[in-house]
Amino acid sequence: MPLILFVDDDAETRRQLGGALTDSGHKVELAKSGEEAIARLREVDFDVALSDLQMGEIGGLEVLSAAREFRPETPVIILTGQGSIAVAVEAMRKGAVDFLTKPVDLDHLDLVIEKALSSRRILRENLELKQELKKQQGTRKLLGNSSSMQALRRDIERAASTDATVLLRGESGAGKELMAESIHMQSHRSSGPMIKVNCAALAEGVLESELFGHERGAYTGAHRLRRGRFEAAQGGTIFLDEIGDLTITSQLKLLRVLQEKTIERVGSTTPIPIDVRIVAATNRDLEEAVSAGEFREELFYRLSVVVLTSSPLRQRRSDIPLLSSVFLREFNAAHGRTVANFSADAERCMTAYDWPGNVRELRNCIESLVVMSHKTVIDLADLPPQLRQTAELGDVNLPLGRTLDHVSREYLLRTLDSVGGNKARAARILGIGNKTLYRKLQEYGFGTEMPASIGPDDSEL
Ligand SMILES: Nc1ncnc2c1ncn2[C@@H]1O[C@H](COP(=O)(O)OP(=O)(O)O)[C@@H](O)[C@H]1O
Ligand SMILES: [Mg+2]
Repeated sequence: MPLILFVDDDAETRRQLGGALTDSGHKVELAKSGEEAIARLREVDFDVALSDLQMGEIGGLEVLSAAREFRPETPVIILTGQGSIAVAVEAMRKGAVDFLTKPVDLDHLDLVIEKALSSRRILRENLELKQELKKQQGTRKLLGNSSSMQALRRDIERAASTDATVLLRGESGAGKELMAESIHMQSHRSSGPMIKVNCAALAEGVLESELFGHERGAYTGAHRLRRGRFEAAQGGTIFLDEIGDLTITSQLKLLRVLQEKTIERVGSTTPIPIDVRIVAATNRDLEEAVSAGEFREELFYRLSVVVLTSSPLRQRRSDIPLLSSVFLREFNAAHGRTVANFSADAERCMTAYDWPGNVRELRNCIESLVVMSHKTVIDLADLPPQLRQTAELGDVNLPLGRTLDHVSREYLLRTLDSVGGNKARAARILGIGNKTLYRKLQEYGFGTEMPASIGPDDSEL
């Protein structure tokens, strides 16, 4: 039953019209003043609000603007005396769906309410369609439930709400571009453009005019004025990928943009103010590049206001099954296939593999499996050779009736054995960090000294 808010400061009108609305099969809530109506609108999602125009301090126009503000889906109908039709027309201009003059013709009231209800339905449907569209555009989401992925998503959300320059780090294929998209989509710039530039793909001279544009006649062949990528990104985000590959000259030019928030087209000295958020990405060790004199220190610091790092897939193996099943579904749909899942062995093997190309490699692998497979279950034998190797380490036969401690000790030692004592490799297969492996070996009485070169223990258990 449609829920209607009816506000009028006159008790008699409230009784009469309220009664008529109830008789027509609506649920009616009455309010005595504009204040009361606004308070109710805040709390309840009414299907329609019917408001008298002239009431004490807060009138119908105020009720209307409050409804527009926090209940944009609730249509408002204005009720007015003969003398104030001009104001009622103004109310229509401000978003009221209709107005009624007193004394109200009850048939007409029904009609107007019906119209308002159907306009609400259409509004609803539009909003839902828009949300659906947004969801579809947002299917490229950063997936993964590992703690590092959850933390990364939280950090992205925090950074996204600001205009701070962000530097994305991580191995190739680990999701930097997706992170940049996610930052843009969650920022207040999401309705603006997202422009991507691959700095590595552009030669020195081209890069500059690509980024900043050029004036007509700036150089031979520049027949027309050309706006650059920074101008194209006005009001939005620019994603500078492979920033570590910029030449020193280009780095200096970019530094100027960061400092002055203006650009100059090639062949012009007129600064153009830019309102663009910069997100840069690299898989290079920029500190090292700075030490080697290949990357400007100041640019490095300016870019790294916020640094977000996506860890390699092998350090968050628990994400592999989820990513695999999502990609499987995606490529089934894309290629009209019906591969259902992976066998337990295949899944174990995929989780144990190191994925040097990270999520990109996993995606490609699954796409080719889906395209090439004629079975519904992908088994060990279907996997590419580099993955199968991981599985060819052999079996451990563990009799039942042992303690868990005994079994993990046995399993760890056998694994270490199977890789010829290579501790880093054993740790990776076991899904534990190097430090954890060393600690366990010490616990088991192997008293191994940990080499100083062992990295941080960031694998997940
Ligand atoms: N966490 C993730 N969830 C879903 N897809 C991902 C994730 N990380 C990466 N991908 C996908 O893997 C591929 C490579 O990611 P990309 O962002 O291009 O990596 P990078 O820019 O770091 O090389 C893309 O197809 C991307 O959509
Ligand atoms: Mg990339």
